Amino acid sequence: MEYVEIFDTTLRDGEQVPGCKLDSKTKLIIAEQLDELGVDVLEAGFPISSPGDFKAVEDISKLMKNARVCGLTRAVMKDIDVAAEALKSAKRARIHTGIGTSDNHIKYKFNATREQILERAVAAVKHAKSYFEDIEFYAEDAGRTDNVFLAQVCEAVIKAGATVLNIPDTTGYCLPEEYGAKMKYLKENVKGIEKARLSCHCHNDLGLATANSIAGVQYGARQIECTINGIGERAGNTSLEEVVMILRQHPYLNLDTRIKSQMLFGISQLVSESMAMPVQPNKAIVGANAFAHSSGIHQDGVIKKRDTYEIIDPKDVGVTQSSIVLTARSGRAALAYRAKNIGYELDKLQLDKVYQQFLLVADQKKEINDDDIPKIIKASNI
Ligand code: KIV
Ligand code: ZN
Repeated sequence: MEYVEIFDTTLRDGEQVPGCKLDSKTKLIIAEQLDELGVDVLEAGFPISSPGDFKAVEDISKLMKNARVCGLTRAVMKDIDVAAEALKSAKRARIHTGIGTSDNHIKYKFNATREQILERAVAAVKHAKSYFEDIEFYAEDAGRTDNVFLAQVCEAVIKAGATVLNIPDTTGYCLPEEYGAKMKYLKENVKGIEKARLSCHCHNDLGLATANSIAGVQYGARQIECTINGIGERAGNTSLEEVVMILRQHPYLNLDTRIKSQMLFGISQLVSESMAMPVQPNKAIVGANAFAHSSGIHQDGVIKKRDTYEIIDPKDVGVTQSSIVLTARSGRAALAYRAKNIGYELDKLQLDKVYQQFLLVADQKKEINDDDIPKIIKASNI
């Protein structure tokens, strides 16, 4: 079994989303929980971007017990100096520096040439290396970067001292096959690649961030950059809880993380409440309906044996139990189960009568709750 490192960027790529801004006290609470959750690297902010971000990185650096603390920079010397200052108290610090490498970024963002970008990348990594051993380089828009040039950049920054190579699909454009093939190409064509860890950083513009990250690790990457609840720029980033549980549910991949999955639901709620960003009910792993069963056939199956319709034990992600939701689509098994839970044992004849009454009420109400059940039983005159 090999470990895939989890690089959490909830407090950087996640927090930069409009409306998600956190005060410094809340950032520290979330950082502490992420450390406890077992993330390997915590990207605490972009220190040069504002005094608030600088302070967050500084405070989180002092607080982390296990996670490496990472600060983002552009390939700009001043950015790197400021990040190094913010990170100086961290037990284990990482500078995350980089530059756009796609032709689009080179031409329109930098009005530069590939050669100039390569030089700036190398200079930034060398400068960052004068502060810390652990340097991650990001090739922004790597998803749309020509693989031959990307490999050239990767080779040059490894020589300059980069220990992690982040291959971001910044615009969420890649297909899983394509993103996996990119990792494979780099593994096979970059000299010195064994000295660095490849990292997936995927955005969700086409809903493929999780699939792309998994494809990336299947083809050799050993770090995934992600956020709690998948929050992040535009349609978001790869969702931490999804990649962690995918690797855990598929042991034949021989890949796992150090995440304490039982904490996932709690931390999802904490981030959602702190940022006032509701989690969609059908969100995988942590959504309110992720372990709720409402159709009669599914309810009957789950009541007989949970794994007929569930591939994850809810307790493994910190959800107390699966729920059997009573609606007009529910069957007798679900009604009997819920009635029994609140103390009503119904025999077959009684259940038939109560069920007819239940359907009348359920057609009028979206959901039947525990308080409705005694009233339904009483009205059915059993
Ligand atoms: O999406 C991206 O390319 C990024 C980089 C700054 C790492 O967030
Ligand atoms: Zn990003």
